Amino acid sequence: MNNFVYDIPVKVYFGENQLGNLAPEILKFGKRVLLTYGGGSIKRSGLYDRVMAELKAADCTVFELSGIEPNPRITSVRKGVEMCKEHNIDVLLAVGGGSTIDATKFMAAGACVEHDAWEFFGANAKPIERALPIVTILTLSATGSEMDAGGVITNLETQDKLGRMAAPMLPKVSFLDPTLTYTVSPYQTACGAADMMSHILEVYFNLNDDLFMLDSMMEAMLKTIVKYAPIAIAEPENYEARANLMWCSSWAINGFINGGRRKAWSCHPMEHELSAIYDIAHGHGLAILTPRWMEYCLEESNAYRYVSLGVNVFGIDPKGEPMAIAKECIERMREFMSVTLNLPDSFTKVGIKREDFAVMARKACRYGAIRGFKTLEPEDVERIFEMCI
Ligand code: NZQ
Ligand code: ZN
Repeated sequence: MNNFVYDIPVKVYFGENQLGNLAPEILKFGKRVLLTYGGGSIKRSGLYDRVMAELKAADCTVFELSGIEPNPRITSVRKGVEMCKEHNIDVLLAVGGGSTIDATKFMAAGACVEHDAWEFFGANAKPIERALPIVTILTLSATGSEMDAGGVITNLETQDKLGRMAAPMLPKVSFLDPTLTYTVSPYQTACGAADMMSHILEVYFNLNDDLFMLDSMMEAMLKTIVKYAPIAIAEPENYEARANLMWCSSWAINGFINGGRRKAWSCHPMEHELSAIYDIAHGHGLAILTPRWMEYCLEESNAYRYVSLGVNVFGIDPKGEPMAIAKECIERMREFMSVTLNLPDSFTKVGIKREDFAVMARKACRYGAIRGFKTLEPEDVERIFEMCI
């Protein structure tokens, strides 16, 4: 087992009726609040009014930045940075899904520097040494942004979608109330499930460290998603389903399951290029890519990993040839994504065209080959894209 550092200092309020704790947590950082949210789901659900009532009762001065897009744009981040500087903001409160939370993280970091926020990204990225404090209220179980230090931002001018992690951007406090996800559509629920599943698989398919305990926990989390995502889709107000998915979302990516594993992620860099050009939902892109990537990487020598997944998560009979079980596991994964989650399962169905494969593959490898479960050069990425058509 490799050495590692475990450090996840995000305070979580989990469950219903926790918003009474919002104002006391906000007031630890100050009274001047930048409230950020997306296209209006929080107004339709009534959450906006509840949040405002809490903040007003605590005598906070609230500034608002709404309209943060799915696949959030650098232009929204820039607006937020300006507002933080102009209004001398003490704390940012992000209410929404991963897009709102991600954008808010870079507003908080951008407020502490003079340069443009886009300079936090790319090969010569500027350091992120400070950020204003961030509090989140999560409304969609998917990305884990509520409990991690990362974020992904799109620049439409350059057609880039780039990620960045930095400890100062970790939320100080996150409110995880499963009932706030009751209004999430079946499609976004499915995309969220595929995303958190991928976060786990990116680590699980990684053979450079022997961590039976974490492998078993990952399998338990995957089983949780396989069990509860269809229930949440069929019964949007099923508390147990929403609660299990919500806690999975956070733990899939908060660093705990990594242990000492350091191999690169594979499906994520490929998917970000799809979203960068076609603006598709991140989880949907992953749902299409994941089974094909698994198929592309399968070899006799690594089949045992697929066998564990197939047997322990999908309940495949362990008797039989490892390669046969591995192939069945890939098929079960494909079926889960496309049939159970009902996510259309090819590039053609979501409008992604072959003519962009070369450029997307090159950009997916912008920092060199993807050194993940199997090393992927741009040609490999193109072949995987080809399998998705
Ligand atoms: O904008 P509003 O009106 O709020 O509507 C959103 C949006 O249209 C809606 N929604 C959110 N909560 C809702 C709701 N609708 C009804 N009821 C609710 N309670 O759902 C739509 C999608 O929201 P979005 O925030 O875009 O989804 P998600 O949470 O999946 O975030 C995706 C973004 O996060 C990035 C992705 O790349 C993508 O840009 N990621 C961030 C990561 C991180 N921070 O660590 C890791 C991930 O791998 C991922 O890359
Ligand atoms: Zn993801």
